Amino acid sequence: MIDVAPPLGGALPRPVSRPLLPPKRREALTREILALKHRLNAVLLAHNYQVPEIQDVADYVGDSLGLAQQAAKTDAEVIAFCGVHFMAETAKILNPGKIVVLPDKEAGCSLEESCPPDQLRALQATNPNFYTIAYINCSAEVKALSDIICTSGNAEKIVRAAPADRDLLFVPDENLGQWVMEQTGRPMTLWKGNCYAHVEFQSAHVRRLKATCPDAPVVVHPESLREVRALADVVCSTEKMITFCRQSPARRFIIVTESGILHRLRKECPDKEFLCAPVFNAMQMPTDNCRCSECKYMKLNTLEKLRDCLAQLAPRVELSRDLIQRARQPIERMLEISARP
Ligand code: 13P
Ligand code: SF4
Repeated sequence: MIDVAPPLGGALPRPVSRPLLPPKRREALTREILALKHRLNAVLLAHNYQVPEIQDVADYVGDSLGLAQQAAKTDAEVIAFCGVHFMAETAKILNPGKIVVLPDKEAGCSLEESCPPDQLRALQATNPNFYTIAYINCSAEVKALSDIICTSGNAEKIVRAAPADRDLLFVPDENLGQWVMEQTGRPMTLWKGNCYAHVEFQSAHVRRLKATCPDAPVVVHPESLREVRALADVVCSTEKMITFCRQSPARRFIIVTESGILHRLRKECPDKEFLCAPVFNAMQMPTDNCRCSECKYMKLNTLEKLRDCLAQLAPRVELSRDLIQRARQPIERMLEISARP
């Protein structure tokens, strides 16, 4: 843990955008994608962390909960899921009869990797009274082993609705789990997984930025470390971050999550300023060419790959009927509780 904030050179961190596609190329790809979408009767779903050009062509952009809700109600025959693999899997589980494609099959998640199903099964075997709540960032097999799924948008509600006589086991994000325990006062056994991108944010850097802009509310994703969450004015999912910034009278905000969200924030709040919390490497230098955090998995998806997955209807999410059946119930339970007032 670093307790001295590194110098920021006196200037506020300025997010450096990744190189954009040349406008003509972007327009041509967008046209192709829209034509394919129309021909295939496809819907394009994109997570808030996707690159701007994907967000701009998508039918719906949102957080994991919103995306699962959209997937549950779509009439489209093909779902092109621009996010990471577990999200596309969730869409397939909710739509076994539809084709679900994703731009890059390698788009994984460190949380999903941290929770192999056999290790979860072994832990569950130690306590038959466990009620397993799985953060949606996990594999279909882990979902099938769980009693209910949650997202960062509804985790508190899901935990509050859990049976009072059961011992709660929360997998795989220990930071989200810790945060929900703090909110609900309900003890839980926590799996030791984390989001490799969110745990990079350090409290010293956020504190330093806060000192430079004391008027800016600090908006933090619950996958972040406890000491970073402690500096927050609000801790919430990516979708709730957008609502918060839209409704707040503040003119600028410190955003502690993956930098892809800046696109929607700037689009929906054009008169406000968003400062991305910086990430520094071991030498205390800003990382690479960008001072914001990026999820390397989310950023595997590109407009070209989206066009290709629609043109080839591949890569596809394929799951066995048995796995779909087992994983579906905990997801539907989540959707049902989420819809309650
Ligand atoms: P939400 O968009 O649900 O807040 O989740 C963030 C995330 O890390 C998705 O992988
Ligand atoms: Fe997984 Fe973190 Fe990337 Fe979200 S941001 S997909 S939790 S690695």
